[in-house]
Amino acid sequence: MKSILTRRFPPEIKAPINPVYGEPIKKIYLGETYHGPTQPLFVPYSSFLRHALIVGSTGSGKTTTASRIATELSKYSKVIVVDWNGEYLGLLNSGIHYRVSSSNPVPIVGDDVEEVVNVFEEVLSLTPPQAFILEKALGNRVPESLTEVLDRIEESVEDSRWFLESKLSLLRKLSTISKPKYAKVFERRGVSRFLKLLVSSEGPMIADVSSLSDSTARKLASLFVLKLAEYLKLRRLVKNDLHLVVDEVHNLIGMNEGFLSRLHAEVRKLGIGLVIITQSPSIISKGILTNTNIKVVHTLKSREDIELISRSLGLYQYDVANLIARLEVGEALIDYTGLTKPALVRIEPPT
Ligand SMILES: Nc1ncnc2c1ncn2[C@@H]1O[C@H](COP(=O)(O)OP(=O)(O)OP(=O)(O)O)[C@@H](O)[C@H]1O
Ligand SMILES: [Mg+2]
Repeated sequence: MKSILTRRFPPEIKAPINPVYGEPIKKIYLGETYHGPTQPLFVPYSSFLRHALIVGSTGSGKTTTASRIATELSKYSKVIVVDWNGEYLGLLNSGIHYRVSSSNPVPIVGDDVEEVVNVFEEVLSLTPPQAFILEKALGNRVPESLTEVLDRIEESVEDSRWFLESKLSLLRKLSTISKPKYAKVFERRGVSRFLKLLVSSEGPMIADVSSLSDSTARKLASLFVLKLAEYLKLRRLVKNDLHLVVDEVHNLIGMNEGFLSRLHAEVRKLGIGLVIITQSPSIISKGILTNTNIKVVHTLKSREDIELISRSLGLYQYDVANLIARLEVGEALIDYTGLTKPALVRIEPPT
């Protein structure tokens, strides 16, 4: 490892002090500061209810940092990790592994049909006519299963040529997930099973979607896990705060990222905090960047990403860009409301 003495630190980063005077009762330990006096960095638990973002290029330490955060948060609240690659089981030493499959289904949930349609729109990039046909086919009843969604579309009556064409193209888009192996993966019975395990879980609950071989099925499962979390809080079926750790978020959202923006803006009032992780900060909307309280920046290599993130920290200048580009694996520049200046921290992996 390169000696930190050989690295230059811009003046903005000269105060890696934890400003939380007197220790907050609920605090999240992330690691130790390494520029200036070494001291533990604790982020107040409550800050996580105003959302967190972890960015960094491939292999920079994002998932390890997210595992530390998930472990710490689960001391005070419920935590669901949406695990795209199936990595968290090996990183977390407590919790429940919900490996999404026909034995561990994900329900299709939403407050109304429009919300369900929005998820399909996001996952399948539906055109407006396709979304219209789906909404019309579903009527005003949230479907019990993916099979029911497909049946209702098949049964919908075409009264014009454009309707027939759009219906066929909608069914083509759904063809990857209309395979028999997925029929029992998306079913209403997932609500009670998931809830029972979540409520009894001592540590984070890992919603592992990696066993679904098709990326469309993985996306659908990931987004419906997020919808389920919102649904459970909305109906007060989960009393505790709930934190959603969403890794590889760039795999889940389309370029318009409507789903994520809405979730980000609306769930806080339900007592849900989001921890969003991505290697591509440029896909994150300005609204999300501005309204995310905690930012954990691992090394970034693309100039565009560095510029974007430094600006969001209010720090853009050559020295800072250089610093972000040179962070070692597991090192991060951390900022949150309450910290007088961003701190350089060596993240401690979960033990
Ligand atoms: N804080 C840390 N301390 C020590 N080693 C670390 C730390 N963070 C990450 N590593 C090591 O670096 C490697 C990559 O870590 P990790 O998987 O967390 O990175 P990532 O940014 O999530 O990668 P990817 O972009 O592939 O998802 C792993 O071998 C991990 O053990
Ligand atoms: Mg990772």
